Amino acid sequence: MKNYKIAVVPGDGIGNEIVPEGYRVLEAVAEKHGFSITSETFDWGAGYYLKNGKFLPDEGLETLKSYDAVYFGSVGLPEVDDTLPAKDYTFKVRTNFNQYVNYRPVRTYPGVQRPLRTEKHIDFVIVRENTEGEFVQVGSQYLPDSENGMGIDTSIFTRKGIERVAHYAFKLARKRRNKVTHITKSNTLINSLSYWDRVITEVAAQYPDVEHDQMYIDNSTASFVLKPEVFDVVLTTNLFGDILSDLGGAVMGSLGLGGSGNINPEKDFPSMFEPIHGSAPDIAGQNIANPYGQIWSAAIMLEHLGEIDAANNIMEAIDKSTSEGVLTKDLGGSASTSDVADAVIKNL
Ligand code: NAI
Ligand code: MG
Repeated sequence: MKNYKIAVVPGDGIGNEIVPEGYRVLEAVAEKHGFSITSETFDWGAGYYLKNGKFLPDEGLETLKSYDAVYFGSVGLPEVDDTLPAKDYTFKVRTNFNQYVNYRPVRTYPGVQRPLRTEKHIDFVIVRENTEGEFVQVGSQYLPDSENGMGIDTSIFTRKGIERVAHYAFKLARKRRNKVTHITKSNTLINSLSYWDRVITEVAAQYPDVEHDQMYIDNSTASFVLKPEVFDVVLTTNLFGDILSDLGGAVMGSLGLGGSGNINPEKDFPSMFEPIHGSAPDIAGQNIANPYGQIWSAAIMLEHLGEIDAANNIMEAIDKSTSEGVLTKDLGGSASTSDVADAVIKNL
């Protein structure tokens, strides 16, 4: 029997509630589809930092390398400096493991009320560049306490970094509706994002069968709301993709609905699968967090591992559960976090 080794990192806040529920779904679907999962759970994150002064142990990355994938919640706590979680955990894993694609699908869930009036079916994928751009954290603060204080962050866009994520986006479009919209702001960021446009356009020329257009970030935020049905694959920079994916979550009906994968397409390193949102400390510890995005992330993980039938099975079970009205508080329902996992497992 095929076995997958999964590193489970619930992280902080609601991660400790939704990750175990998502893992229960994973175990149930594995049993049904004839493969097995072995896992180890790591208590890394801001809580770990409070005890140990770091988000993960020094050998943490090395440890993760021996797993087929990482199933992650999110990191961050109100009592910990919030400049640390991304720097010391999330970006660390994403960059060290060359997870240069952040795959963040957006779609309609049956039975879930959306904030948009459109009845049209929405189904697109945000492909966010995940290792460079605006989030390289190259910069400094100069004399921050003085009246001449300043803070500088530099964005870095490399040919290699743009090409590889663009190739991924165009190949993905071929498996979908054959369209890539790349998001930019090259009318004002005339160096970095003009280069982004140029390299993407060069890559696009190698995919003449795929429709390609570009849209400014400001227009694209409006279009997510006014005409989301025009998108198929949305190729964005790191910062724009971060923002657009929360908007994508909102368009679906809640941040809690978004699943994602931090993907190393070459499979040289494990990929990491997590919901699009954070640790939601405002609702943690109440068993009310919406786990659908975390469960969807399990399906994205199985798809990456090649268990396509099991991944599809999870998606069908999710759809059945939301259509039956198994909805958490953020969706106007009264189901608990564990009620949702129970329903999804029943519907597998
Ligand atoms: P957040 O995404 O945690 O929460 C934003 C709002 O959405 C909150 O009102 C929350 O209750 C709600 N929400 C989020 N997920 C939900 C779910 N599954 N079910 C129901 N409601 C949900 O963002 P926020 O508040 O800006 O950040 C909180 C912490 O999370 C911070 O420390 C931040 O740095 C961290 N964070 C970590 C991420 C990661 O580890 N990848 C990503 C984003 C934020
Ligand atoms: Mg985000």
